[in-house]
Amino acid sequence: MNPQLQQTADYIRAEFERDSTGHDWWHIYRVWQMARKIALLEKADVEIVEFSALLHDLDDWKLSPSSGGEPRRAAAWLRQIGATPAESEKILAIVRRVSFKGAGVADEMPSLEGQIVQDADRLDAMGAIGISRAFAYGGHAGRSLYDPAEAPVLHQAFEQYQSSRGHTINHFYEKLLLLKGRLHTASAQKIAARRHAFMEEFLEHFFEEWRAEDAEALIS
Ligand code: ADP
Ligand code: NI
Repeated sequence: MNPQLQQTADYIRAEFERDSTGHDWWHIYRVWQMARKIALLEKADVEIVEFSALLHDLDDWKLSPSSGGEPRRAAAWLRQIGATPAESEKILAIVRRVSFKGAGVADEMPSLEGQIVQDADRLDAMGAIGISRAFAYGGHAGRSLYDPAEAPVLHQAFEQYQSSRGHTINHFYEKLLLLKGRLHTASAQKIAARRHAFMEEFLEHFFEEWRAEDAEALIS
């Protein structure tokens, strides 16, 4: 492996080791590996994809609210390892745009490399792992599992999405179920189908249990 890439992986691993918001090292690791696989399939610049995947959450608005969306730490790190200004700019342009900002907020991701990193990040928010991460994040943010009085809201602006305080089941409607339709690459779309179906099945079971319909069906 390229030594700078290994150094970056070690740095990020140390930074994210103790996170419990669903942005732990293993999230970064999965996104990195998935992005690498997709990059090979889609014939993208694998190195740009790998660096961007490793750095994508370092300055996240939820984790570092003071960053104002500008990836300062990622920029400082790239300078430190001697990346050229051209490489840095490509990577930082991706890192700046990768995050989901609300149902009605369009994604602007011009490079194929960026589209791949965004797809890999989104795949990790879907399926069994996505469900686990949503409840881990919800617990961290002090949110309830579900409240039947509170209907899902689709946010039309980033500020609205950012300040949303809804229950975690709501998050499936405000983000997770929308991800399948917001992937860029054909490779990611294929992987997403099974993960999406599993989330739908999970929700069906959740509401069935909530209404105790499973009990009725089993007892009668
Ligand atoms: P992105 O990678 O698009 O920036 P986030 O950083 O918003 O994604 O989310 C990280 C993880 O936390 C994801 O699995 C996401 O679904 C979950 N998450 C984010 N916001 C919420 C929320 N309000 N409720 C539950 N889970 C959330
Ligand atoms: Ni991420």
